[in-house]
Amino acid sequence: MPTILITGAGRGIGFEFARQYSEAGWTVIATVRSPDSIPMVESLGGGVQVALLNVADPASVAILCERMRGTALDMLINNAGLYGPRSPQIGAVPYAAWQEVLDTNVMGAMRVTEAFLPHLRAGERKTIVAMTSKMGSMADNTSGGQYIYRSSKAALNAVFRSLALDLAPEGFLVSILHPGWVRTDMGGPRALIDVHESVTGLRRVIEGLTPDESGRWFDYAGREIPW
Ligand SMILES: NC(=O)c1ccc[n+]([C@@H]2O[C@H](COP(=O)([O-])OP(=O)(O)OC[C@H]3O[C@@H](n4cnc5c(N)ncnc54)[C@H](OP(=O)(O)O)[C@@H]3O)[C@@H](O)[C@H]2O)c1
Repeated sequence: MPTILITGAGRGIGFEFARQYSEAGWTVIATVRSPDSIPMVESLGGGVQVALLNVADPASVAILCERMRGTALDMLINNAGLYGPRSPQIGAVPYAAWQEVLDTNVMGAMRVTEAFLPHLRAGERKTIVAMTSKMGSMADNTSGGQYIYRSSKAALNAVFRSLALDLAPEGFLVSILHPGWVRTDMGGPRALIDVHESVTGLRRVIEGLTPDESGRWFDYAGREIPW
């Protein structure tokens, strides 16, 4: 069975990815930032292995990468993400918080992808997923604001579009995905869909991704999103 590594698997969409891939019989390396999340993920049982990983901390990434040396990975899901301050106002932009969001959402995803490329090269599926958000779409931005989160996801898109082109000659598929507006701690209780519907759809889109679609942007229902 294939092996997958998921970042930010302690709750929300990442946890549901771990649950569903484990249920489907995959070997799941479910990574969590805090030891407090370990018991919850361990309760999934089956083929789930829990590991600590803070994507914003280069040392944390290096430690897990070294521990997993020689392990082939079929798929990496860069799911870990931060929203940051909700409504930064002009004149009071919190730059330190912005830096933290960029370090997690953009550099964190690149850092993990770069570190685990040898493991992915040794795998069969060679699939890399970036969990982005429609909030990063220029075309869809008709309401303004949300400078921090929007810019982080737009930058993430740019990075993974380039990765798709750069890694295509090696047979990699790069899936850039919007999960929908999902009821999680980040999405809030008024969101439109639950994690089950979102992740079920996302898995279907990942499974059906063709080389021609690598590096393009789709939502959980397979609808293409304009940059
Ligand atoms: N929910 C939505 O409506 C929605 C919409 C569009 C896109 N997304 C994207 O989907 C992804 C998952 O969102 P969610 O709704 O499940 O969010 P969530 O419930 O807030 O969970 C976020 C996860 O990311 C982890 N995380 C944050 N910073 C991290 C770091 N430095 N290192 C490792 N893990 C870190 C968190 O770990 P801790 O538990 O330790 O904090 C948590 O497990 C995110 O990338 C988000 O931007 C969500």
